[in-house]
Amino acid sequence: MQSKKLNKLIMIIFVLSFFSACTKDVIVTDPPTLAAPVPPKPGQTSYAGVIQPIFTAKCAGCHYLGGVAPNLVTGKSYQALTTSPGMIDTSTPSNSILYKKMATGGSMASKCTPADADSVLRWITQGAINN
Ligand code: HEC
Repeated sequence: MQSKKLNKLIMIIFVLSFFSACTKDVIVTDPPTLAAPVPPKPGQTSYAGVIQPIFTAKCAGCHYLGGVAPNLVTGKSYQALTTSPGMIDTSTPSNSILYKKMATGGSMASKCTPADADSVLRWITQGAINN
């Protein structure tokens, strides 16, 4: 008799804990955005390895959240660039605002070298992948 009652009690606790688990686990998801970074293929210009270091060293001092857009801080820059219209144009890479600003004659050219701008152009030409 006692063990039947105990079983019932255990059952009730089990069921209650199940429901409370359901209500407590609020799953917070980021809004669906961009594909996770993928490793660069041989010959590809790596975003994480080549492009971001340029931004970090030469641009992010002004281009951060709350500063001048686009946000070029590590972990934020790819999304900022790819969601800002015209910033990156993979169909006509040299038309990308990002590249034009960095290339000779652009207003950001004094902050970087022609080689930096070329790396960015190559990366855009290769599809502007988060690699
Ligand atoms: C000293 C601060 C400063 C630094 C460093 C700097 N920028 Fe800028 N950037 C600005 C300002 C201010 C503007 C807005 C005026 C303009 O477009 O020239 C701007 C504009 C831009 C724009 C155009 C934004 C738009 O919406 O049209 C891009 C792209 C850009 N910068 C990229 C870069 C890159 C890449 C670097 C690093 C090589 C860089 N900037 C370094 C201050 C800076």
